[in-house]
Amino acid sequence: MAHNGNTRIYVTGPSGSGKTTVGNILAEKLGWKWLDLDQEIERVEQTSIASIFERGETYFRLAESRALYATANHSNIVVSVGGGAVISEENRDFIANNGVSIALMADPLVLYARIKDQSEHRPLLRNGGLAAVQQQFANRKAYYQQMDTMIETDHNSPQMVADAILGKLIARGALDRSESSLRIVRVQTASGSYPIYIQRGILRRSAEIIFSELQLPHRCVLICDEHTHALYAESLKTLFQEHNCDTQIVVTPSGESNKTLQTVEKIYQDLLSRKHERSEAIIALGGGVIGDMAGFTAATYVRGTPLIHIPTTLLAQVDSSIGGKTGVNFGAFKNMIGSFYQPRAVIIDPDLLLTLPERIYNEGFGEIVKCAMIGDKPLFETLENGHENCANKNSRLLEQVIGDTVAFKAAIVSADEREADVRMALNYGHTIGHALESVTEFSALLHGEAVFAGMEIEGNIAVQIGLLAPEQLARQNQLIAHIRRFEHKALIQNIDPVKLLEAAQTDKKSKDGKVRWVLPNAIGSYTINITVPDDVALRSIQMVQK
Ligand SMILES: NC(=O)c1ccc[n+]([C@@H]2O[C@H](COP(=O)([O-])OP(=O)(O)OC[C@H]3O[C@@H](n4cnc5c(N)ncnc54)[C@H](O)[C@@H]3O)[C@@H](O)[C@H]2O)c1
Repeated sequence: MAHNGNTRIYVTGPSGSGKTTVGNILAEKLGWKWLDLDQEIERVEQTSIASIFERGETYFRLAESRALYATANHSNIVVSVGGGAVISEENRDFIANNGVSIALMADPLVLYARIKDQSEHRPLLRNGGLAAVQQQFANRKAYYQQMDTMIETDHNSPQMVADAILGKLIARGALDRSESSLRIVRVQTASGSYPIYIQRGILRRSAEIIFSELQLPHRCVLICDEHTHALYAESLKTLFQEHNCDTQIVVTPSGESNKTLQTVEKIYQDLLSRKHERSEAIIALGGGVIGDMAGFTAATYVRGTPLIHIPTTLLAQVDSSIGGKTGVNFGAFKNMIGSFYQPRAVIIDPDLLLTLPERIYNEGFGEIVKCAMIGDKPLFETLENGHENCANKNSRLLEQVIGDTVAFKAAIVSADEREADVRMALNYGHTIGHALESVTEFSALLHGEAVFAGMEIEGNIAVQIGLLAPEQLARQNQLIAHIRRFEHKALIQNIDPVKLLEAAQTDKKSKDGKVRWVLPNAIGSYTINITVPDDVALRSIQMVQK
């Protein structure tokens, strides 16, 4: 990539490569403006491309260059650039000096198949069909190769192509993040003290942190799943290579059902065949599933190797990467086998969330709202005032909210590493949340979605026993209604409340079949170890179901 810190992205490629659709998606994901150069030319010239072409190609190319150069007046913009524009050396120089450039590529046969029914709008097809597409591709290929990066689009949807572009830009630090400042939160426990780095664009600095600041050996293993592999792992390996680090990537299948001892065993085998040594780091690049498994591997392989978390989901960034809980599922039991094992550092780059599917992104707010409700009133108010902004993964507010939640969890974990007392507070919403996941057989609700519903029910229990004022519960529920964008009311209404309570009573944190509830007594404050009569808990569930 030519240079870092860009505020403009130019997407080009042959006809049918998807530069218009992909450019638009990319802009939407970044919350940036999008400009299609052809449409801009039509707007300026107040006529169609076809009629501009009637005045001759030279006239069109001049208009195209003028429109291209005018993009220098904008920042935070994605520009879809016609494939012919990059033939001009001046245009290529302009792009190289003003932003980062992407060429979308595909086999000419694939390109032809994509556009063959559009001959009405594509003169190229009228003047030669497949042969013309192949010829034009051959003529322009060398120019596309001069762009900063090329992305193959043959087998990928526009959404996947946009994510692949983002993955490359983020891993190479190609986006302008000058407005973002580094925040370091420390966890201090008896078994280890470690920094959590939070900053947009910090992924680019991860090699420096791991090998220079932490002085870990220049040999490591990067554990990821197929999604984080496709998006980030290879670029990260290249970055580590630039720091003379010999990196092996271990890819495991994604998903909760693969968080097993069998997968860990497979990782052990990879570590053994590589002769991975005790002083060398294991780096977890993924969501909570990868973090928990890589953490457990690091805790147990040769009795412990250094662990670095690079969490890639919102849940992993604000919750699972902090506090040292590692483990795997065993049979039907979640997180049954595991250990407490603190990482050497956590590197949180909110930019990684740009590629996260919306539903998975949104459920991450379950943990954020929980932390705000039980212990951080200012965070709660920030969310109340800025929830609309939180939907934008590129917002400064999101970075602040992640940092505040991390700081809150880090303080709790530092005070009570092994969950003897205050750490139990983090269970708010989780007793009913876990029960909901269990009665719906872990298939209908994502964890954070279950926690949202759990907070509504548990908050209502707090109101029913006179612990929490109804207005405070109303504020919590209002915030949840704003922030949770997937509604499961019908699903929750159809659950048998007795079965739900029974499932809560078998929660591993219950004692003698009695639930020890964690309940808020005000926004930003909680009480632990509360027992309530079954009929009160049942009534509270039924009230929320109505
Ligand atoms: N250790 C703890 O303290 C703790 C706390 C909470 C949850 N957990 C565990 O965390 C797990 C859930 O974690 P999760 O919600 O992160 O799920 P996950 O790890 O399964 O990730 C969800 C999906 O998102 C994909 N993904 C991850 N990052 C991506 C990115 N940046 N772009 C695109 N796709 C991406 C993953 O491949 C996966 O398909 C559970 O196993 C749970 O038990 C652990």
